[in-house]
Amino acid sequence: MTWLITGGAGYIGAHVARAMSEAGERVLALDDLSAGVPERLPVGVPLVRGSSLDGDLLKRVLADHAVTGVVHLAARKQVAESVAEPTRYYRENVGGLATLLDAVAEAGVRRLVFSSSAAVYGNPDVDLITEDTPCAPVNPYGETKLTGEWLVRAAGAAHGISTVCLRYFNVAGAAAPELADTGVFNIVPMVFDRLTRGEAPRIFGDDYPTPDGTCVRDYIHVADLAEAHLAAARRLSDLSGDLTVNIGRGEGVSVRELIDVIGEVSGDARPPVVEGRRPGDAPRAVASAARAAEELGWTASRTVREMVESAWRGWQRHHGG
Ligand SMILES: NC(=O)c1ccc[n+]([C@@H]2O[C@H](COP(=O)([O-])OP(=O)(O)OC[C@H]3O[C@@H](n4cnc5c(N)ncnc54)[C@H](O)[C@@H]3O)[C@@H](O)[C@H]2O)c1
Repeated sequence: MTWLITGGAGYIGAHVARAMSEAGERVLALDDLSAGVPERLPVGVPLVRGSSLDGDLLKRVLADHAVTGVVHLAARKQVAESVAEPTRYYRENVGGLATLLDAVAEAGVRRLVFSSSAAVYGNPDVDLITEDTPCAPVNPYGETKLTGEWLVRAAGAAHGISTVCLRYFNVAGAAAPELADTGVFNIVPMVFDRLTRGEAPRIFGDDYPTPDGTCVRDYIHVADLAEAHLAAARRLSDLSGDLTVNIGRGEGVSVRELIDVIGEVSGDARPPVVEGRRPGDAPRAVASAARAAEELGWTASRTVREMVESAWRGWQRHHGG
């Protein structure tokens, strides 16, 4: 098998490239470097610089490298940006996927793993979100992921491609400091950023119907997530058809609990300030991790504290905290 990892120079893609190559798979990466960093890729993993919107390039890469499976992570991922620029998100996330699927079908590639997101669910009012919980995304980013899943399944059925859609929950941490996420788009780096500036972390709303009043989420270490991709890639060897799987720890952690862990790990436990609720935040979003265990033989093994510790080491490397 030779696996093409699109978005392979990105935060998650580089972790996937590392996990798969360490497990003995042959991998190469394709990335337009709009957000990727080539140095993240392990030694020996070739990088093709180019876009998932470039069909001719994709066909050439699939043929030249005799690619037999694709892990498609290349996408834009910022919710606020997707609200401001929805046509760009549909063009790049959905259009890029359609172009890739045409090239995959033409090249006779029969295996594909697609990066989806818990954003496909929107804000369901359930204790644990299963893969059968109805999907109702609340922003264009989530819509492009749900549309992407539909497209993956339809193209898979039409062209005999076996597919796995992985719905990631809240991802953080780093397998090594140099692989850390450098953006400040989710809660872990946002709290680090506040602490580094000498400011108190912010909690948006503490009057939710949850045990401590703050929102509850399912946080997963990116190294566990990368191993889930390896498990999905291997599952494809005996899968005909499609599979859709939540990737989370299956445990809820409140914003206040997470900030407490960050305070312990960083040594800066200043009390958070409570501000008003943000529009669109669900009180609780926690995965059922049962199908991942059953179908992929995968469960997360790293704790939330290990995740925060690894993220903090990465933050200090990139931001000199
Ligand atoms: N980070 C999260 O918390 C999270 C959660 C759920 C789903 N996801 C999904 O996981 C995937 C990877 O996310 P990430 O956090 O590593 O983001 P990232 O921005 O670090 O990685 C995306 C990579 O894709 C590249 N890219 C973007 N558009 C491209 C295109 N058209 N052609 C080629 N390369 C392109 C970027 O340069 C970047 O290296 C995305 O599909 C994202 O939607 C991420």
